[in-house]
Amino acid sequence: MSKNKNNKPIWNTRISKVSSNLFKKVGGSLLIDKRLFNEDIEASIVHVEMLFKQKLINFKIKNKIVWGLNRIRNEIIKKKFQFNENLEDIHMNIENRLFELIGEEAGFIHTARSRNDQVITDFKIWLKKATKEIIKILNITINNILKSANKNVETIMPGFTHLKNAQPVSFAHYLLAYVEMFNRDKKRFNSNLDNLNENPLGVAALTGTSFNIDRLYTTKKLKFNKPTKNSIDTVSDRDFVIDFLYSSSACSIHISRIAEEFIIWNSDAFNLISLSDKIVTGSSIMPQKKNPDPLEFLRGKTGGSFGNLFSMLTILKGLPLSYFKDLQEDKELVFKSFDQLKNSLIILNDILKNFSVNKKRMLELANVGYITATDLADYMVKELNYPFRKAYLQTAKIINFAEKNKKKLNELKIEEIKKIEPKLNSDVFKVFDLKYSINSKTSFGGTSFVNIKKMIRSYKKDL
Ligand code: ARG
Repeated sequence: MSKNKNNKPIWNTRISKVSSNLFKKVGGSLLIDKRLFNEDIEASIVHVEMLFKQKLINFKIKNKIVWGLNRIRNEIIKKKFQFNENLEDIHMNIENRLFELIGEEAGFIHTARSRNDQVITDFKIWLKKATKEIIKILNITINNILKSANKNVETIMPGFTHLKNAQPVSFAHYLLAYVEMFNRDKKRFNSNLDNLNENPLGVAALTGTSFNIDRLYTTKKLKFNKPTKNSIDTVSDRDFVIDFLYSSSACSIHISRIAEEFIIWNSDAFNLISLSDKIVTGSSIMPQKKNPDPLEFLRGKTGGSFGNLFSMLTILKGLPLSYFKDLQEDKELVFKSFDQLKNSLIILNDILKNFSVNKKRMLELANVGYITATDLADYMVKELNYPFRKAYLQTAKIINFAEKNKKKLNELKIEEIKKIEPKLNSDVFKVFDLKYSINSKTSFGGTSFVNIKKMIRSYKKDL
């Protein structure tokens, strides 16, 4: 690093006392933002190419800097780079090494640039890639759910509200509900790309610059769509960070909900699905146990994702413009959320490929709890032209009778039914059939087998 007479890095020339040792140790971000080295070098190369194009630096210097940066990239990839924690972050580490490699001319790299625009440029490039990676894994998740749905169109189970049997549904319909959720996640991540595609590079510290730079050039070269429009907003904006953390949290909610669903279904009490040995763990004391730990892990990890979102929201609340050190926290939060979400989705994919459906038990449970009662009420509306409320009352009376006599609806005699509702005849028994009930739900978005098959096809097409 080029040093002044007091032997201090050049950006510290006006600071006469060394900062507190503890702050030096904990105030840096190197261990976190190291991860941005590739993006930092990519953006720096484009920056100096732009400086050269605009005649702000000469050909020789541009080439020297580009050569140095490429070499630094190699050193880092080959783990030969000496990181120095005394230099705050990855940006200072790379710049310092550039001085060592090419001497004072390295200093031209920071013409018309500040770390404030540099750090967000790197971060946005990184986050764009991360976002696309999550979308890719979400596609795999959706595909795994569709495969299972495809095998279970005609698998009948009770649909629950309040965890009580409500109405019969196809198991595939339940699974496709999660496809909807993950599709919304994809949409959210995709729309985040809009803000991520605005190029911050060139706003410098907060005001823009007096140098004749070309922001459209760097925008194009760095594959952004357009430059940001206000230099002050640019260096203080972390909306793109909140967007990512929120989208990750929403996606984590969905992961957590399907995890919880599977935990319930896999429980001995429900026994609707079975997890293969690949995705359960044993107990240290109870030899018989096979616990759904990976599912509980997914549910538990969701808390961390919300925490990261709330940390960032709190950091930004009331923070004046423009750049403050507070903002340095952003990267750790995003990296943690990203790693966690990626791991969770991969684990979920593993689970989706390693569970089996206990069809017999599902059907058995679907026969409990007068689950076709609503179908009976609907039948009276259609056949007897009753207002729904009257049909509801008559149905409730029939259910009460059946319950008192410990009978299922299809075990009632037509005379018993007629005593309560004389206008009914034995045609009514068809509505107590679970399959009949499911297939009558033909309204758009309903659970009929035909609807589900259509939906599976359309989801597949969207992938
Ligand atoms: N390490 C800092 C961060 O991640 C880089 C930006 C520094 N800018 C500044 N004006 N101190 O936020």
